[in-house]
Amino acid sequence: MNKSHYYLRGDALVEPLVDGWYAWAYLIPPATAARNIAERHIRIMQSYINAPSSHASAVKNPKLQGGPFVDLGRDRVEEVKALLNRTLSERSHLLALSRAITDLDALLREQGLGHSLEALYDHVPGPLQGYVELVYDLNNHPSFRLLERLLYRSKYYDRSLQSFRVSTISGDDRPFVLSTPRLPDDSHIDWPVPFESANVDRLFEMRTWPAGLSEIKEILGVPTQKEDSLFGLFTEQPPPSYGDYRGNGARWRYFGHACILLETRGLNILLDPVLSYTYETQISRYTYDDLPQRIDFALITHNHQDHILFETLLRLRTRISNIVVPRNTLGALQDPSLKLILENCGFRNVIEVSDLDELVFAGVSITAIPFVGEHADLNISSKSAYLVTIDGHTLLFAADSCNISPRMYEHVHDLIGNVEVLFLGMECDGAPLSWIYGALLTQKLERSKDHSRRLAGSNYERGMHLVDLFGCKEVYVYAMGQEPWLNHVMKVKYTEESNPIVQSNRLIGACHERGIIAERLFGEKEIFLS
Ligand SMILES: [Fe+2]
Ligand SMILES: [Fe+2]
Repeated sequence: MNKSHYYLRGDALVEPLVDGWYAWAYLIPPATAARNIAERHIRIMQSYINAPSSHASAVKNPKLQGGPFVDLGRDRVEEVKALLNRTLSERSHLLALSRAITDLDALLREQGLGHSLEALYDHVPGPLQGYVELVYDLNNHPSFRLLERLLYRSKYYDRSLQSFRVSTISGDDRPFVLSTPRLPDDSHIDWPVPFESANVDRLFEMRTWPAGLSEIKEILGVPTQKEDSLFGLFTEQPPPSYGDYRGNGARWRYFGHACILLETRGLNILLDPVLSYTYETQISRYTYDDLPQRIDFALITHNHQDHILFETLLRLRTRISNIVVPRNTLGALQDPSLKLILENCGFRNVIEVSDLDELVFAGVSITAIPFVGEHADLNISSKSAYLVTIDGHTLLFAADSCNISPRMYEHVHDLIGNVEVLFLGMECDGAPLSWIYGALLTQKLERSKDHSRRLAGSNYERGMHLVDLFGCKEVYVYAMGQEPWLNHVMKVKYTEESNPIVQSNRLIGACHERGIIAERLFGEKEIFLS
């Protein structure tokens, strides 16, 4: 590597981490990070240390996919012990914050009985003092409102927890991110830099603009003994050049799951960016190398890790002009602000939208459409579908919206009229509440209740109601988690008998009977809207 110009390789895997675990959105805000470190990471690590063989067996059992099992084999106990000990000693302030949330909930249950809450402020647990307002709902159920912005400015938002793990990737399989810590080893470079660092942008820009060896070494800060590992991450080969869309009308391309690129001659929109790297594979796909240099709008539908992925967003940070997110339920532990999450990760161009807000740019309009359901009946507002009107075409990206309220969609139809193209997720079984939100609960939820409250999208009946109501001409079932490059965040494996496949097949069949173009997307797809 003596020459002065090296490009980051298309298969250079750069995983963002928080405290040694893969960075998903709930590991960024101080309160939800504290809860997940205390109630998810520590529990999983303790369980693995006690029974590594059980974990090694469980990850091979298809019925237990996505469960709380460490996917590191049975021989990494000492390393997991070291990570656990570091967490217990160095993250004590976050563990105290997590305990304070448990204690405050208990205090409110015992003493928030309908009279004024003012006397309880003196009894708010220390770590939360000054960071909460105590409130009732209109039925006298006590709760608290987190002052999230203050928490981000406190010791509880600890950028030193953030780092990256750099290597190359040659296949789709990766351990599930919610259950498996990323341990240091010889095949990876650990890069301790906060997500907001300008060096992060410079590294990713090296995919397009090459750098010299000294700059690479300076940015990555690689110790001399690990310099050899840099050779595999860079190449003298420039990336394939991307031809911006110059046709009439618009073109959309499916990148897998809920990630769709919509292009006109003047505007590029990328929905729910979750992308594959570029490597030899049996399944043809668009990758990071198939994106335009400038993405005018990135639209995020909701705060699930298969729809907002920091690994992808950080890689694209300098290329995204505007990132649009739905507004949260202010101060609710279960619904942290996506705007604050992104801003605290170095994004300076976040636009928050609420239901029916409209953005208009270069003749294209983007309207936030109410998204109900799929969040286990929790009060979560940071979810939105998007209606895009482009060159006379209307496309509704509904993501995981679950049509639990047909009357709501009838009201929406009264406002927006018919929709030409519908993109609809139909993961209609869904995981139980505890899968994502369990660490936030401070009281155990009965299993039957947990399993009745699911992260489930629309089934056949609910989907067909939307198709008929909006008079759709084209229907694409997407966001089904079937692309294997999403395995690390989804762990979904369907067969032809799986309910989401049966239900979506029925919907596609019914659409065909009505003369509607319909298919379930998988891998890649390209359609021109003339
Ligand atoms: Fe979802
Ligand atoms: Fe999803």
